[in-house]
Amino acid sequence: MILLDNVSKYYKGDKKPALDEVNLHIQPKEFVFLVGPSGAGKSTLIKMLTREEKPSYGNIMVGGIDYRYMKKKHIPHLRRRIGVVFQDFKLLPNRTVYENVAFALEIVGVSNAEIKRTVPKVLELVGLSEQAHKFPGELSGGQRQRTAIARSMARQPKILIADEPTGNLDPENSWGIIKLLEEINNFGTTILVTTHDAEVVNQLKKRVVTLSDGKIIGDQKVGGHYDLDGSRSRIAKRSLGGPAPTTIQSQPHILTPQAQIITSTSVQTITAQPQTKPVATPASAAPAIKTAPKTQARTTVAKNPIKPAAKPSVSSGSAVLEQMKKAKAADAAKPVAKRRKFIH
Ligand SMILES: Nc1ncnc2c1ncn2[C@@H]1O[C@H](COP(=O)(O)OP(=O)(O)O)[C@@H](O)[C@H]1O
Ligand SMILES: [Mg+2]
Repeated sequence: MILLDNVSKYYKGDKKPALDEVNLHIQPKEFVFLVGPSGAGKSTLIKMLTREEKPSYGNIMVGGIDYRYMKKKHIPHLRRRIGVVFQDFKLLPNRTVYENVAFALEIVGVSNAEIKRTVPKVLELVGLSEQAHKFPGELSGGQRQRTAIARSMARQPKILIADEPTGNLDPENSWGIIKLLEEINNFGTTILVTTHDAEVVNQLKKRVVTLSDGKIIGDQKVGGHYDLDGSRSRIAKRSLGGPAPTTIQSQPHILTPQAQIITSTSVQTITAQPQTKPVATPASAAPAIKTAPKTQARTTVAKNPIKPAAKPSVSSGSAVLEQMKKAKAADAAKPVAKRRKFIH
């Protein structure tokens, strides 16, 4: 679950906020496009989630982690739960595709044996088994982005965030990357993608959240369209069709009862009030959202904002990868007409 509660961000020296009282609730396993013109605040929102930047006001919770109480030492835990992919790939140029993916596991202490088991599976899933020995400079843009996705997915994060992942790609490669993200989402990973690409957005008919001047001006829950003026299609000749979506404006307060229970070593329960400014809370306490009666959102206070985590290992992740691989193999055995489309 991703939750932004009245988040505003003022960069140093700026009078106008880059994010202006943003409320957003993304359920586990959703696929969400975050769209809007350049400067709308999309990357800022992503940086709030990855903790590259802190909100000036408001609060964020992701996968059980309450950002108000996050300390520097918690950031590595966060980065294991959230995979991030960028427009410019951010690959290590002097390492091969295999090594780029392996490195992401090495730095979180995964054993060599586990790395050897995991990396080939992830590369197969993104369709890069044949390119494992190549360096980023020897790959196409689409292959580089697949490598970046493989690197993010190797740790089996619950959430994958992609900031303009197709920004440097041609239309065909863009389409392949988006379909790959859709495939990863089908296996249960929450996906949040920022994009300018109206055609991709309009084709996929997913939830579309529109940002403009730091504000959420639209949240189309299903069948979303990119309908800002001046949006331009980059992928030509793909039919659109389908009914026009209903636009649902985001709600002003989102600490809703639907919020998932966040387990932790709770010590007491307090009630969260809708707020526009951060509530002063003892620094030693760490609230986390708890299921609450319909009329009231509640917050559970715990010692640590991070759920006592499963060991930061990919062994459980490997099981998931195994499952994904099996599903893919089973699919390949079906008659062509019945296959799900896997991207290579
Ligand atoms: N590090 C920064 N320092 C100061 N201002 C910034 C910084 N990053 C972004 N901004 C400003 O915040 C606003 C939103 O930018 P950004 O989040 O990058 O938008 P988008 O990703 O939608 O193009 C812009 O006005 C931009 O100039
Ligand atoms: Mg951006």
